[in-house]
Amino acid sequence: MTIPEQISAALQYIGSKYPHQPEIGIVLGSGLGNFSKELYTDISIPYEEIPHFPVATVAGHQGKLIFGTVNGRRVVAMSGRFHFYEGYSPAEVIFPIRVLKALGIHTLLVSNAAGGVNSEFKVGELMIITDHISMAIVNPLVGKNLDELGPRFPDMSQPYSRELIQKATGIADELGIRIKHGVYFGVTGPTFETRAEYRMIKILGADAVGMSTVQEVIAACHMGLKVFAISVITDLGIREEDNIITHQEVLEAAMASEPLLTSILTGLIAVC
Ligand code: HPA
Repeated sequence: MTIPEQISAALQYIGSKYPHQPEIGIVLGSGLGNFSKELYTDISIPYEEIPHFPVATVAGHQGKLIFGTVNGRRVVAMSGRFHFYEGYSPAEVIFPIRVLKALGIHTLLVSNAAGGVNSEFKVGELMIITDHISMAIVNPLVGKNLDELGPRFPDMSQPYSRELIQKATGIADELGIRIKHGVYFGVTGPTFETRAEYRMIKILGADAVGMSTVQEVIAACHMGLKVFAISVITDLGIREEDNIITHQEVLEAAMASEPLLTSILTGLIAVC
């Protein structure tokens, strides 16, 4: 079965459960899943029920698509995303994004946890992603182009919508949230970076580094979606102390900043 046929099959199944068209898709990062509490939920569909959705590798780590409304807008949220480091192929990582587009979304909002390499950043701060560097990951569009989804050589001069960056910045200012802007460097993980790697990433022009988002955003750009993405800075790669970075501290920092992230995303949904 071709990928467009797989997308159609997924679409047909979802359509049989939920007859409405969502406008906005949301992908929630590690430790940031509580946003779904803001959602007035109509229906949740476990990934395992949806034809051709990747199958979860970790038992008990169930993902689902949540359909509902936020601020009166119809949204679909991915609770649980797929990472390349878990062993999914790049095509599997982006399959749900392609299905969201086929469902009718025009805008994709993405969040993630990221390590800061900008020396002015502090743990817990939010960074609106203005651009990314993708060369250290596998480009998910490698292979035969799916012309029905988008062009062979997609323009990537402005992957992140300027309009949404401006609106989100305004919302953060109104709420009194100190927000940073910066470039996100995509890596495959699952190792955190060495000190030399964090230094290299900074020298190459990035402000933060993380293991998700970039493949999803490339797929979204390929299909012409409007994209907004935001990172919670959960640890610092460039630092004075001799400490190590743990997954636990990343999750704790993400959870602590979640209310700020939620208020920005909720505000943005009303105006995007
Ligand atoms: N590096 C890569 N990915 C991450 C980090 C980091 O320091 N923190 C959270 N995700």
